[in-house]
Amino acid sequence: KRPKITVVGSINMDLVTMTDQFPVQGETVRGSEFQTIPGGKGANQAVAAARLGADVTMIGCVGDDEFGEQLLSNLKREGINSGNVRRIQNTSSGLANIILSEQDNRIIIIGGANEHVSTDYLDQTKEAIINSDYVLLQFEIPKDTIMYCIELCHQYDIPLIVNPAPAMELPSEWWKKVTYVTPNETEHAQLFNGEQIESLIVTKGKGGAEFILDGKKQLMPAYNVKVVDTTGAGDTFNGALAVRLGEGNSLPEAVQFANAAAALSVQKMGAQAGMPTKEEVNRLIEQKLQ
Ligand code: RIB
Ligand code: NA
Repeated sequence: KRPKITVVGSINMDLVTMTDQFPVQGETVRGSEFQTIPGGKGANQAVAAARLGADVTMIGCVGDDEFGEQLLSNLKREGINSGNVRRIQNTSSGLANIILSEQDNRIIIIGGANEHVSTDYLDQTKEAIINSDYVLLQFEIPKDTIMYCIELCHQYDIPLIVNPAPAMELPSEWWKKVTYVTPNETEHAQLFNGEQIESLIVTKGKGGAEFILDGKKQLMPAYNVKVVDTTGAGDTFNGALAVRLGEGNSLPEAVQFANAAAALSVQKMGAQAGMPTKEEVNRLIEQKLQ
């Protein structure tokens, strides 16, 4: 069955500068390349889920600028239901300034239209949210909207994956309302003091992903691949996880599949370019079994 996934989150244009050397304070260096590429954690997770065969609806906002148009047509090209995506007048689309070198990546985001993903807007798009097999939520939209979305899914008993990135504190009892929380190691340390709760899935890059099964911590190893650009690896993981859980697979199976999808995604430049199809993920899993 094709799971219905709704993503509530950000849509950004990524302004990616590649450089061999990071400038230190007050310094100017020459970079090697520049690209504008569709991104944003929400849109990335939507694209990841759509490529893996889910029926995906995006709940988010873009600006009335050129980027907004490009971002919207990118979502449509990926087969994502974008009828609910709003274009906000007199507002710029969300931006991510990404500086990439071989050793490091640093990102500064500018909210822009993402700040208009309001609780009112969620009310108006509630139908999509409460008719989902899984909802995906990240932290690049306003906090009251994030809390409202968690409450809504909790009330209607809709499974929800919260990817708490970039890290932002929530009252601790709120984590009990969500099905899964998927921080990376840094976010895990910041938000949970390194503590384990039942619903946690901690992504550790090359170290795999940790989750709890029958009260015990389990580690699902990562797939070892050559890395070109890790931007969007976490988003691919989350999109894939939602699809596999939405299809009714077990948690270990879904985490393994999500690890494989994330591994494939880092082999290409840009957040979305390397995101795989279901066949590609299954091929990688089978290869590694041999
Ligand atoms: O997770 C990667 C994403 O984070 C990038 O696409 C960028 O837009 C930032 O939001
Ligand atoms: Na990539």
